[in-house]
Amino acid sequence: MRTLIERRNQLLGPYYRLFYDEPVHVVRGEDVWLFDDTGERYLDAYNNVACVGHCHPRVVDILAKQAATLNTHTRYLHTHILDYAESLLSTLPNEIGRLTLTCTGTEANDLALRIANNRVGGRAGIVVTDWAYHGGSVAVAEITPCLGIGVGEHVRTVPAPDSYRCDPERLAAELEEQVTTAFADLRAAGYAPGAFVFDSIFSSDGVFAHPAGVLVPACDAARRLGALVVADEVQAGFARTGDAFWGFERHGIVPDIVTMGKPMGNGHPIAGLAARPEVLDAFADRSRHFNTFGGNPVSCAVGQAVLDIIVEEGLQENARATGDYLRAGLSELAGRHALIGDVRGAGLFTGCELVTDREPKTAATDATGDVVNALRARNVLVSRAGRDGNTLKIRPPLTFRRKHADLLVERLDDALTEVASA
Ligand SMILES: Cc1ncc(COP(=O)(O)O)c(C=O)c1O
Repeated sequence: MRTLIERRNQLLGPYYRLFYDEPVHVVRGEDVWLFDDTGERYLDAYNNVACVGHCHPRVVDILAKQAATLNTHTRYLHTHILDYAESLLSTLPNEIGRLTLTCTGTEANDLALRIANNRVGGRAGIVVTDWAYHGGSVAVAEITPCLGIGVGEHVRTVPAPDSYRCDPERLAAELEEQVTTAFADLRAAGYAPGAFVFDSIFSSDGVFAHPAGVLVPACDAARRLGALVVADEVQAGFARTGDAFWGFERHGIVPDIVTMGKPMGNGHPIAGLAARPEVLDAFADRSRHFNTFGGNPVSCAVGQAVLDIIVEEGLQENARATGDYLRAGLSELAGRHALIGDVRGAGLFTGCELVTDREPKTAATDATGDVVNALRARNVLVSRAGRDGNTLKIRPPLTFRRKHADLLVERLDDALTEVASA
């Protein structure tokens, strides 16, 4: 292990951070399980990329077959991209009728920013939530406050709708007011309203899923001011939130642009941007866009397989039912562990916020790190989110079942006991 870490540091440098005090050397994955180099098995309760389960045999088979047949770019005619676009667009509201494929979520958000800039004929004013993650290119890093390097001059931040610390009844109106003020401020600074961009499960902000509908007035206000509504579904999309296929659907909104990525290829790098035709066509009239790998036949075959499996294996319903079951188990733990301040989420996206006291809800940042490591020591993999890093982020493959939830709750019970008595 030490040799591997030294090689990494030497070859890759400090950017390549590792999870856990004692890192895990993974060599194989299967469904919700990861295996290390000694054959030890870990419950993966964190990987939303492998949404239909690690190394799903059908995905692997389709990938291999298409790779052995043809892989090329989109300057040739090919049916896979069209079939896939039809399937994917059929999961989205009718108003969203165009798809562009990329390889990463960052590229998709980058393109959304280009579209916003193009619309206003300059640098568009962008509003995001204040601990959001949207990606790492120069332009997208400027709208990604959680990188901690400051946002761009053309960016304003608003608090995510925190249903734990604020009155849920007032959240929608407050968000509307904050978004309106942010765009007014941007206009005063010379930036026309360009886009309100949000991760519809507010994952980096700390996982906020309720109340459903909280985004409606803010999105309406953004549109009235001339800004685009951009739902970043890189985390919330593809059936994860259970009630709906897309995170924004739970909130009853129809965005202008939807960006997506992570789970789309179950680990294969495929991402994309779907938009209202008038929005994308206006951009295409004035600007060129090409992505060498985006939309290649292998990616599209894989993407199609993932969509089919989600439907055929009933994974959206599983996300809903197992997610509710898991949160019920966690809420029951809260009755015995004072560290748990709040349990929230939708489908198989859960935040479990840890506090040193339930009033005034002081973030238990160090203890949360200890719990993550104590779980790792018990072969359960999760991580944490939020500005204070005190929310356990639990986001397993969509094939996670009740027996896996039981195991997680049992091990968390143990881990919390250990951390509280340390
Ligand atoms: C909400 C959200 N948007 C965008 C991205 C960027 O995606 P990628 O890492 O594929 O560029 C991420 C990555 O974590 C994300 O969580």
